[in-house]
Amino acid sequence: MLTDVTAFAPATVANVGIGFDILGHTVEAVGDRVRLRRIDEPVVRIRAITGIAGDLPVEPARNTAGRAVQAMHAALALDYGFEMDIEKGIPLGSGLGGSAASAVAAVVAANALLDEPLPRLQLLKFAMQGEIVASGSAHVDNIAPCLFGGLTLTVGIDHPRVKQIPVPPSLRCVLAHPHMYLGTREARAILKTDISRSDFVWASANLAGFISGCYSNDLDMIRESFNDVIIEPQRHSLIPGFKDVQRGAMSAGALGCSISGAGPTVFAWAETQYAEAVRGAMVAAFAAHGLQSDDWISGMESYGARVVKA
Ligand code: HSE
Repeated sequence: MLTDVTAFAPATVANVGIGFDILGHTVEAVGDRVRLRRIDEPVVRIRAITGIAGDLPVEPARNTAGRAVQAMHAALALDYGFEMDIEKGIPLGSGLGGSAASAVAAVVAANALLDEPLPRLQLLKFAMQGEIVASGSAHVDNIAPCLFGGLTLTVGIDHPRVKQIPVPPSLRCVLAHPHMYLGTREARAILKTDISRSDFVWASANLAGFISGCYSNDLDMIRESFNDVIIEPQRHSLIPGFKDVQRGAMSAGALGCSISGAGPTVFAWAETQYAEAVRGAMVAAFAAHGLQSDDWISGMESYGARVVKA
């Protein structure tokens, strides 16, 4: 029986521009790790948080990873407990799904320590409890790709169904994370709660076109549909230089460019041969607005969170 495991969970790009709260994909280049030990005492405890930890709470109920494992612990009425160490690799408030990654890595590690491990779909609900602590809302567009890997569509909240969507193999995701903090709560609070009929039609067409383009390897359809008419126009002013970063990426050959999750990270999809130029243009545009940024070019392969050490 395992008593000590470490799980890795990748960063994620939520929304992917056109699928607010329902689409997301993994970014293999960066992620969080959680080490869990099974202990006799029936409690959930956080021993340490290291890495890019900021001022994250170590009190389990207020911590995304702690809360997710507490939800699992309570639902299964376990008579033993878990002690965890969280190693943050994803910057806080970056729009790269850091809270989801910690919650997912924690439940994946806890699952490996159960006498009878659960199917992944059940872990989704526990991880969601952690996401609520961080952002105040139950969205799954970071958690689902983080747990299952690749590009995922999630339908439903109470009984979510997760579909993995193929990404054309010639594509890469380019990311630029400007050195600033943007809280998901704040970025959600500014959003309008209603939309016009015309925006609804465009948003539906773009989401359908994007997904059909992914299934049929139709890059023109993906490029044409890669246009967020609802969320990006409301949020982009929170990110200094966003329009220039987007223009730079598109001029350098990107298929599309938008805000990763709630931002401030900006992501673009590009064919492999354009990825370096797109990265350079995005970083230069942020620099022109006085912002240094971290950048990555990442595949969007179907790896989700996994146990890396047992
Ligand atoms: N879909 C969410 C949002 C993701 O854009 O608010 C936040 O991580």
